[in-house]
Amino acid sequence: MTNIFVDGLLNDHVAFVTGGGTGITGGVARALAEAGASVALVSRKLEHLEPAAAAINENGGKAFAVAADVRNPEEVERAIAATVAQFGKIDIVVNGAAGNFLVPAEQLSPNGFGTVVDIDLKGTFNVCRAAFAQLKEHRGQILNISATLHYLGTPMQLHVSAAKAGVDALTRNLAVEWGRYGIRVNGIAPGPIEDTEGMKRLVPEPIKEKLRKNIPLGRFGRIKDIETAAVFLCSDAASFINGAMLVVDGGQWLSAARMV
Ligand code: COA
Repeated sequence: MTNIFVDGLLNDHVAFVTGGGTGITGGVARALAEAGASVALVSRKLEHLEPAAAAINENGGKAFAVAADVRNPEEVERAIAATVAQFGKIDIVVNGAAGNFLVPAEQLSPNGFGTVVDIDLKGTFNVCRAAFAQLKEHRGQILNISATLHYLGTPMQLHVSAAKAGVDALTRNLAVEWGRYGIRVNGIAPGPIEDTEGMKRLVPEPIKEKLRKNIPLGRFGRIKDIETAAVFLCSDAASFINGAMLVVDGGQWLSAARMV
């Protein structure tokens, strides 16, 4: 895919990316770095983050890894402080940390439901809250990685659907409340993206081809599709976009009801 962005589009920006080591958010972190931003990669496991940070640095970008569980507000605050100490500020936050597994609703335990809500929804809140002072000072922005699962009813995804519906609400509310500070708050709702852990674990092989055929554009998404959307939303090209959830799914959710 051609790079449609001008070189250095995000020069002098600093991004704090949760879930930043692997999968979709790993790609987003890499793309922000390629566009010129310095990037802090944040998640529970340093062993996932360090190779990703090293790859960005070897490619001429600037990245560092910091361990924090987004469920723990104190750890998040420490990671924010470490990023400011490393790069001087934070003006882009990408909330990509997420947990997921397939389970029928009647087998979902209270702790299973709560764990996903804690990571996806409360984790997003914890990070936005901890980054607020930096975002306000630098007229920064937030990008929340959501989903399309909750637009319809998605079997075995009650917990994630509930959490992501909350993420969408949080996105719109913060856009309204923090717009006055020049902070833009948007999101991306990816459809099925190939070559991700989520796709391998959440889309059973027998339904894969059926799912692909039902995507109006006839293919699964690529991590690059989410990267370009993220760079766009984080750039000045999107300077009047606030409170939007950009669906990047090839039209999949609109035609999903026809699958059954
Ligand atoms: N089916 C049903 N319940 C599950 C489950 C599954 N596949 N996986 C986890 N749970 C439940 C656990 O049983 C537990 O509930 P319980 O105490 O009532 O038994 C609860 O969720 C917490 O699980 P635990 O493994 O202790 O939590 P954790 O904090 O270590 O990890 C996840 C939670 C969601 C991150 C974990 O499932 C995971 O590592 N997933 C893979 C990574 C991932 O989801 N990436 C996102 C890709 S889209």
